[in-house]
Amino acid sequence: MRQKLVAGNWKMNGSIKANQQLLESLKQGITDIRADIAVCPPFPYLQQVQALLQGSHIRYGAQNVSHEADGAFTGEVSAAMLVDLACTYVLVGHSERRALYAETDERVAEKFVVAQKAGLIPVLCVGESLHERETGETEKIVKRQLDAVLTVAGVDAFRRAVIAYEPVWAIGTGKTASPEQAQAVHAFIRQHLASQTAGASVAQTVQILYGGSVKANNATELFAMPDIDGGLIGGASLKADEFLAICQAAH
Ligand code: G3H
Repeated sequence: MRQKLVAGNWKMNGSIKANQQLLESLKQGITDIRADIAVCPPFPYLQQVQALLQGSHIRYGAQNVSHEADGAFTGEVSAAMLVDLACTYVLVGHSERRALYAETDERVAEKFVVAQKAGLIPVLCVGESLHERETGETEKIVKRQLDAVLTVAGVDAFRRAVIAYEPVWAIGTGKTASPEQAQAVHAFIRQHLASQTAGASVAQTVQILYGGSVKANNATELFAMPDIDGGLIGGASLKADEFLAICQAAH
């Protein structure tokens, strides 16, 4: 039985005031929640979030990380800095990074490795576009994205990582993958990991989250699927009541 995880990706949203209100409400509301909970605020708020979450079970992480260790890389944030701020997680390869900032599979794999070496838990985001789904390429794309990481990190690396399946067509669109559609891809991911040498046990233990328009009213049926271990939540993670209801659905 895998522990469920619900992670909120705040994307480029928030303010000192709004973050405080949101986290105070989450801290009050999580008492009877069994899933692991995490939030991923924008970089400038990590220290605020660290302070507000002192003593809480809510974990936090970043939305991106540099593939470089340190040096003259203006605007970048290193894995060591995230560790300094006591982050647990870091998202790598979110589709917005892939599409809007031209992050290749290879670059995402480098980030995965750098993050993990520093002691962070990478949350590797994978998923197909609408065109790729319509042309029957979903598995091919997801396999390619996984293989880029498997090639450099090996299957064992997924003992200390999380995977998030996020079909691009479902992100921020209000169109959620049906539980059956999501389950099929999650099962495929597990099967692909299991097909690697010595991959069978990792395939069973790795948490695979679903992301893409998860709301309080669809979370229960998604999280009830056997290979869905929680969610990576965008828009709905900015509203305390909605996010708490989603967390409640993960047990
Ligand atoms: O990282 C989260 C995903 O991009 C999902 O975003 O819940 O707003 O569709 P969304």
